[in-house]
Amino acid sequence: MTARQLTLDDCQAVADLETQLFDGRFDAAGLRALLGKLAFYGAVLPAPEMPTTIHAYCLAYITAMQADIIAIGTEKTKQGRGFGRIILQHLIDVTEQRNVAEITLEVAADNIAARRLYDSCGFHQSGIRKNYYHRGENRCDAVIMVRQRDSAFP
Ligand SMILES: CC(C)(COP(=O)(O)OP(=O)(O)OC[C@H]1O[C@@H](n2cnc3c(N)ncnc32)[C@H](O)[C@@H]1OP(=O)(O)O)[C@@H](O)C(=O)NCCC(=O)NCCS
Repeated sequence: MTARQLTLDDCQAVADLETQLFDGRFDAAGLRALLGKLAFYGAVLPAPEMPTTIHAYCLAYITAMQADIIAIGTEKTKQGRGFGRIILQHLIDVTEQRNVAEITLEVAADNIAARRLYDSCGFHQSGIRKNYYHRGENRCDAVIMVRQRDSAFP
């Protein structure tokens, strides 16, 4: 299965995943607007037999020096099949090709699946934002992670 760059035609499917996974931080119109921004890079992993069905996606800003991952997700019923790793590796490959020095992201401290994925792809913890996320009446720290160019797969 091969990841590719997000296109206008994918925006509704990715917006649906955003709703499923993150209560819809980006709707289709917002994603179309992002596509017009120079630094924005979106990636999708389509189903092989049904290219309009998106299994996983990743949204990022990539500049000359740095990339910031702003969203990554796998459709709920398709999690645990390696799709998150494929989409993250695609994003890493794009940044390596562009010679970007580092990738940063932020993850909830209690998001064990995501943290393990990032750890295994060469990300390291670089900071903590205390009590950043709301969990009902409780709070959860945000962990800031960084991956330096060429550090993951020597
Ligand atoms: C985090 C997420 C993108 C991972 O995607 P996925 O397609 O399920 O992940 P993969 O199947 O590619 O697994 C990759 C690695 O993640 C880790 N992982 C995945 N699911 C896990 C789980 N339930 N428990 C622990 N580790 C897990 C493992 O290290 C795994 O590698 P392995 O299979 O070699 O052990 C997915 O769980 C998701 O969409 N979560 C909801 C949205 C979210 O939290 N996004 C991240 C915000 S920072």
